[in-house]
Amino acid sequence: TPLAPHDALGRPLRDLRLSVIDACNFRCPYCMPADRIPDDHGLDAASRLSFDEIETLVRGFARLGVRKLRLTGGEPLLRKGLPDLVRRLARIEGIEDLALTTNGSLLAHHAQALRDAGLHRITVSLDALDPAIFAAMSGGRGRIDDVLAGIAAATTAGFAPIKLNCVVQRGVNESQVLPLAAFARERGHVLRFIEYMDVGTCNGWRRDAVVPSAELRDMLHARWPLRPLDPNYRGEVAARYAYADGAGEIGFVSSVTAPFCGDCHRARISADGTLYTCLFAAEGQPLRATLQHGEDAVVDAVAHAWMRRADRYSEIRGAASASRRHVEMYLVGG
Ligand code: GTP
Ligand code: 5AD
Ligand code: SF4
Ligand code: SF4
Repeated sequence: TPLAPHDALGRPLRDLRLSVIDACNFRCPYCMPADRIPDDHGLDAASRLSFDEIETLVRGFARLGVRKLRLTGGEPLLRKGLPDLVRRLARIEGIEDLALTTNGSLLAHHAQALRDAGLHRITVSLDALDPAIFAAMSGGRGRIDDVLAGIAAATTAGFAPIKLNCVVQRGVNESQVLPLAAFARERGHVLRFIEYMDVGTCNGWRRDAVVPSAELRDMLHARWPLRPLDPNYRGEVAARYAYADGAGEIGFVSSVTAPFCGDCHRARISADGTLYTCLFAAEGQPLRATLQHGEDAVVDAVAHAWMRRADRYSEIRGAASASRRHVEMYLVGG
């Protein structure tokens, strides 16, 4: 088994996005629309990987070249004892970057414990500052004040910079773009605008609801001049820009208008231990049974799956060969 496997398109395996729970306390219409996903949606505890299993998996991935680990959900802070898991994962040799993507609603309660456990970075989803628009975009479940308190608590706990992710939908939250940018600039957060994607099978995606990043960039540049920055690392998802006045940076994730599959080094694991080699994969490979045989078995199975990988969905979106079946976003956490 090669210890730095490359896939069929020559891409190494560098990042792992690991979902710790498939439940969420929000019902964002672009991810888990409330009329499609019941309130009690979620695996029972026995169907989720245990912390021991997760640790074995991550050790295996680290041996294959993974350096960056991001914990996701659903909403990861719904998983009991998350700081204990963070403490175990932060110690694994090879994991240089350990991050968390959260909706922020429960973050005020957990930020300090996560920091103490060794979490490096936090990204909070924030689609609006206006309370009514925010509530609507969380499916009527979220309160903007809770999320703002969560961001403040994470700042106090020492996370800096905090990244904020905003999915922009035409006719829904374009009015929030400049206020969100002003908010982030004032506080030193790194805001990234994400093009609305056709992930999963239940968000009723339409291309005309996508606001192209170029349009947002022009809107922002007219208010606060921008200049492009080099990526932090090869294959960075967001294109970065600096404010010319020195007030930090901003990013754009343009998976619809400017796909970045050519450098995609990411694997995803759902909370039940299924490996997905693309955000838009039609199916995954279950690893839980393999895991029972230990770390070496994981290394072997993942290396072979990775070497077969030829995913590049965002580049072939719309083509006849592009699958219409996709794993749900809330199972792989984006
Ligand atoms: P950094 O480690 O800070 O660079 O984070 P990131 O941008 O990789 O992660 P984040 O969870 O903040 O992702 C931002 C957005 O990009 C989310 O909406 C993700 O779903 C989306 N995204 C991340 N990776 C991919 C990918 O491989 N393909 C596509 N199409 N979208 C992705
Ligand atoms: N399009 C774009 N981004 C999405 N996210 C969830 N669903 C979609 C979608 N349909 C985002 C969340 C979160 C990140 C992990 O994925 O808002 O910030
Ligand atoms: Fe929950 Fe995040 Fe999906 Fe919204 S986008 S429903 S917060 S998992
Ligand atoms: Fe990677 Fe698939 Fe996203 Fe392309 S569409 S960047 S292959 S996850």
